[in-house]
Amino acid sequence: MKRILVTGAAGQIGTELSARLLDRYGPGVTLATDIRDPVAWARGGLAEQLDCLDLDALRRTVTRLGATDIFHLAAILSAAAEEDPLRAYRINMNGLVNVLQVAAETGCRVFTPSSIAAFGPETPRDPAPQSTLQRPTTMYGVTKVAGELLCDYYHARFGVDARGLRFPGLVSYTAPPGGGTTDYAVEIFHAAVDGGRYVCPLKPDTRMDMMYMPDAIRAIIELMEAPATSLVHRNAFNVTAVHFTPAELARAIRAHVPGFEIDYAPDPLRQAIADSWPERLDDSEAREQWGWRHEYELPDMVAGMLRGLKTRPARHAAGPAGRWNDAD
Ligand code: SER
Repeated sequence: MKRILVTGAAGQIGTELSARLLDRYGPGVTLATDIRDPVAWARGGLAEQLDCLDLDALRRTVTRLGATDIFHLAAILSAAAEEDPLRAYRINMNGLVNVLQVAAETGCRVFTPSSIAAFGPETPRDPAPQSTLQRPTTMYGVTKVAGELLCDYYHARFGVDARGLRFPGLVSYTAPPGGGTTDYAVEIFHAAVDGGRYVCPLKPDTRMDMMYMPDAIRAIIELMEAPATSLVHRNAFNVTAVHFTPAELARAIRAHVPGFEIDYAPDPLRQAIADSWPERLDDSEAREQWGWRHEYELPDMVAGMLRGLKTRPARHAAGPAGRWNDAD
């Protein structure tokens, strides 16, 4: 019987993935966990506090649950990782290796996100192929490449069915991302809905790959449900949806919020990170191997974000960026 453990469940992906897993597989199947106290984030379904750096606690939880699948989302994002690279290394690498080790011991399947950040300045920019040079220049990117390799290793050596997606920036309104370079594409909507002007930390022509969260959640579930025999790569599929610059996004928002204004004050750290990533991922392997298709184009995403933020319950308002969060 399916039993699912989610780590980093209070983060940007984890919040929506946990809710979707509860809908899809029913009550009692999914245990949502996070380093933070569930009182602060749980919204129904099973929820507990768990530090995935604590190997014994992770092993006990997986065994008690009888977990068949682990969705491992706890990680530090790119800009936050540069503030304390050693901490990011410890959390991103030790958390993942603990999850893979417990999966090897118990026979669990694993999903963990990789990222566009697994590429660097020497990677072809538009598009970045599925298999190409990966020499990232950020600590986050280093941990993502190493994480991809660890997943491959645990699959080859111990037969762990570890799957993953290289996500672009993810845009959503339920939980804030927290410390990513692509966070501007979320913050800008909060400013538009709150009637303020937005000061963008990237240059107006910084083109980046993005995806609306409903597409990302569907991609995770479809990949995990795909028959293993159809997967050549299994781990770290490029997936993408939309590509835009801050100026283009502001224009799309202005179609709904005519007075919306944006200024640009590029943050050297975030700009350097953005400039080191490809503009677009080539996701043809995902499309061919397991039928990936994005649904949301830029106008759909903009309309959905504005509608979602205007109608969200007050407690979902963006808070200060979480520093122990889920990835991408
Ligand atoms: N959204 C992530 C970040 O900006 C990239 O995977 O760090």
